[in-house]
Amino acid sequence: MSERFAPKVPVQLDPPKDDPISPEELAKCDGSDPSRPTLVAIKGTVFDVSRNQAYGATGQYRVFAGKDASRALARSSLKPEECVPEWYDLDEKEKTTLDEWYTFFSKRYNIVGKVEGAKNT
Ligand code: HEM
Repeated sequence: MSERFAPKVPVQLDPPKDDPISPEELAKCDGSDPSRPTLVAIKGTVFDVSRNQAYGATGQYRVFAGKDASRALARSSLKPEECVPEWYDLDEKEKTTLDEWYTFFSKRYNIVGKVEGAKNT
């Protein structure tokens, strides 16, 4: 079970950080500013996805960058309007999918903080 969603190439992760990150700062970390990391949040937890070009300015998953994309990830959607934090009204299957994405990201990307004001339980 612990092997589920494990990366093929082992990733050395830093201890998770608890720093507050405002939604405004998160939005600036969308891959468009080379002086900032590229960030994606799930359930309020902020992951640094800078090393994956898929989230960069021209990447296939750039729609998630700079956002808490919980709703879109839960629903397997790439629609920008679904890249919002609200996940609590989703059905159980979607919530499970979201938790699986959380596990996937936590095995690959450093946690660099929490979105200020996020509901994460
Ligand atoms: C035609 C449909 C799609 C194809 C062919 C596709 C293909 C892929 C492939 C090949 C990977 C890499 C897997 C790996 O690293 O092991 C991937 C990762 C991923 N896909 Fe898709 N995908 C599709 C649709 C979607 C949709 C609708 C979503 C919306 C949630 C999505 C979200 C993601 C995410 C978040 C990753 C993880 C990227 C990472 O951080 O490594 N994909 N996809």
